[in-house]
Amino acid sequence: MLQYVSMKHILDSQSFDRAELAALFDAADRLMAEPASPLKGKVMATMFYEPSTRTRLSFEAAMLRLGGEVISTENASEFSSAAKGETIEDTTRVISRYADVLVIRHPVEGTVAKAVSVATIPVINAGDGGGGQHPTQSLLDLYTIHREIGRLDNLKVAMVGDLKYGRTIRSLAPMLSKYKNNTIHFVSPVGLRADDNLKKYLNKKRVKYTETENLAAVVPKVDVLYQTRIQRERFSSNDEYLKYKGVYVIDRAMANSMKKGAIIMHPLPRVDEILPEVDSSPHAKYFEQAGYGLYVRMALLESLLS
Ligand code: CP
Repeated sequence: MLQYVSMKHILDSQSFDRAELAALFDAADRLMAEPASPLKGKVMATMFYEPSTRTRLSFEAAMLRLGGEVISTENASEFSSAAKGETIEDTTRVISRYADVLVIRHPVEGTVAKAVSVATIPVINAGDGGGGQHPTQSLLDLYTIHREIGRLDNLKVAMVGDLKYGRTIRSLAPMLSKYKNNTIHFVSPVGLRADDNLKKYLNKKRVKYTETENLAAVVPKVDVLYQTRIQRERFSSNDEYLKYKGVYVIDRAMANSMKKGAIIMHPLPRVDEILPEVDSSPHAKYFEQAGYGLYVRMALLESLLS
């Protein structure tokens, strides 16, 4: 048995402990080095009620590479029976009879928890509303830091952009709180600051953090520059979005001001917040980050279904 994650369902990032994370990352290293097919005969269902490229396709590629099969629906909001008014609970009850694991992304926070309440198979949160979490993104984010920097403590990490609606931030900050002496620099406009619940959590865990609007002042200090997109789809109007669009843009000059060995990350997709001229910088690691997602999700599926 290769069960290195004790949870049945993956709802948030707080629930992982350091031993589980270390075992998961060892498994991702192993699966990157040695292809294996331990999930032959297993079926994964993906139900995405919001757009996705990386999360959905890396989960599906992970399952296929492990020897399993995938069932799915294109745009679950439109093509699943949710369009006819079916509840997520009924959808989950049915899929529990067809598949061995269910991966869900939904625009309404709390929907994945509703699925978990009735599921008889493991459920994975692949992004849960503008105020929710994206725990498997934080797993691959942490794995990227581990591989590219070689440690998970004594880090200075800038989290930049839309911190109000960014579920990747809401998942990664608690992950970093599990390790020693990390400092988070939240960089955002006042109207897009990280929410109070996240800051209360960091206070409870005694994680040092600062809040600023000044990106240029922070960049030369940090080991990780975690840029995020201003999420047009979360704003109540286009005018509101345009107030923030382009507020922080990383260009080559800014990348050149980083410390040796420091890395730029981004959960992707990007719009205009990292210029293409940065892609060839030795600091740019966002495409490696997306690639690592495949192996981390392979390790997670192997653990949940073994
Ligand atoms: N990082 C991320 O969640 O990307 P997708 O929206 O493409 O899945």
